[in-house]
Amino acid sequence: MAEKVRVGIIGAGEAGEHHARGYERLKDIVDVVAVCDLEEEKAKDLTDRLGAKKFYRDYHRILDDRTIHAVDIMLPTHLHARVAVEAAGRRKHILCEKPMAISSAECQRMIDAAKMANVILMPVHNQIFFPSHKRAKEIIDSGEIGIPQLYRTHRINSLVPPVECWRGRPDESGGVLMESGIHRVYTSEYLMGRINRVVSVVKKSDERSGDLDTVCAILVFESGALGVFDFGVGVGGGFFSEDCTTIFGSKGLIHVNGCEYPFFEEVPRLKINTQEGWRSETIEDEDYSNSFTGLIENFVKSIKGKAKPMVTGEDAKHIIEIIEQIVRAEASVQA
Ligand SMILES: NC(=O)c1ccc[n+]([C@@H]2O[C@H](COP(=O)([O-])OP(=O)(O)OC[C@H]3O[C@@H](n4cnc5c(N)ncnc54)[C@H](O)[C@@H]3O)[C@@H](O)[C@H]2O)c1
Repeated sequence: MAEKVRVGIIGAGEAGEHHARGYERLKDIVDVVAVCDLEEEKAKDLTDRLGAKKFYRDYHRILDDRTIHAVDIMLPTHLHARVAVEAAGRRKHILCEKPMAISSAECQRMIDAAKMANVILMPVHNQIFFPSHKRAKEIIDSGEIGIPQLYRTHRINSLVPPVECWRGRPDESGGVLMESGIHRVYTSEYLMGRINRVVSVVKKSDERSGDLDTVCAILVFESGALGVFDFGVGVGGGFFSEDCTTIFGSKGLIHVNGCEYPFFEEVPRLKINTQEGWRSETIEDEDYSNSFTGLIENFVKSIKGKAKPMVTGEDAKHIIEIIEQIVRAEASVQA
């Protein structure tokens, strides 16, 4: 495809703000030509900002536009599968926000529809494009810390999503672990390889969350390495929040000091310890929104046949299955 990829945005809320930063930086290869949101003002604002020509309240108008090559779905999670399946039916390539859907069964429907239509389906696992995570992966792959053996990751968020918002309603969000803990789960697979098994203890700590909001899970990686993942929403008090990851290898360790809620405010975000001692790395241009630039670039280049999607429907379905296993706590205990 010689021309620029023409995208229609479906859902112009908070995620739309992040993706807009990416589209602004990638004007040479992609044009946002239409924006849809039930709230017309939001659609119009994003249309003006991105220089798109049209805005709608009904997403079918985007699906009906034959000049549009791809859709970027940023709707509340329970709507992802329905809209993605319809989009595939109209031969649109699909970028779909995380979580891919609220269940692995819905993910499978999306995968089948995309295969049938021969279109790209790329779920938004943006944090694997976050510069510190990319650098940590580079260091692991270089062998500098030896064989990764033990892994620790956590995400603690004091803020409980209100029930007035879809985020606070598990039947629309998939639950708080699906909505927000998912970032740590897919990043774990990116850094450490496939997760084969989980053992978990889950409980509800905060009545307001309406959901299992506190999780301790052991991750068993295909490589044989073990991981610990803890997650909490509504704990910590005040605005205290944390997300950090440490990879312990046979010859050293890497500590990634979070990307959404850095526990330690100071830079650098990356600390490495080997026999040579400690060193720190500061990564340039490490704004959260920038992770979406790399992701959108990968999606657009995949449509043009110049790259392969870094995240496939199957990858994302597997992550949803892991979360389903954690929540079921089958091998485990419901505290
Ligand atoms: N990757 C990330 O870091 C990240 C960040 C934020 C949100 N998300 C994900 O993005 C998705 C959207 O989240 P958000 O924070 O933008 O939510 P939001 O509530 O801010 O925005 C969703 C928008 O969808 C619109 N909408 C709802 N139903 C619609 C319909 N039928 N047709 C057209 N528009 C409709 C709403 O009016 C709203 O503006 C969720 O799946 C969320 O998990 C991901």
